[in-house]
Amino acid sequence: MSELVLNINGISYKVIAAQEETLLSVLRNQLNLTGTKYGCGEGQCGACTVLMDGVATRSCSIPAAAAAGAKVTTIEGLAVNGRLTAVQQAFLDEGAFQCGYCTSGMIMSVTALLLDNRAPNDEQIHGAMNGNVCRCGTYPRIIEAIKRASGLTTSGGDR
Ligand code: FES
Ligand code: FES
Repeated sequence: MSELVLNINGISYKVIAAQEETLLSVLRNQLNLTGTKYGCGEGQCGACTVLMDGVATRSCSIPAAAAAGAKVTTIEGLAVNGRLTAVQQAFLDEGAFQCGYCTSGMIMSVTALLLDNRAPNDEQIHGAMNGNVCRCGTYPRIIEAIKRASGLTTSGGDR
């Protein structure tokens, strides 16, 4: 066990974690940030996606210690004062979910994509979202949400 300081959504947390404890486990079980979901646990589904220094990262597949020194953003850290980001709003507007289990990870992956590329083309969208699985099959609406968010982001300067 070792003590770590993690910067999550702009707040510093001291946690005690075993060497093999994943970032996902610390987020959900120690910090009660349960918006980040456990799906496959093997880096294959994207449900656990968070941002590490702006990069989409599978939190089930890295030890918590690997996040020390990084700025981690979870789904709980996106909205500011109740104001949704353009990506969150676009998912709502397009109804881009059914059970919602994949949604946090989808939104985090899209957020990372648009941070890197504010106007991605279809190929870039598919490439960025390739590792995010939706068991409900809402992919067409997710794609529409990404395009809507991309438009808002481009014209409105929102994130
Ligand atoms: S739970 Fe992390 S990729 Fe599936
Ligand atoms: S909305 Fe159910 S898994 Fe995507």
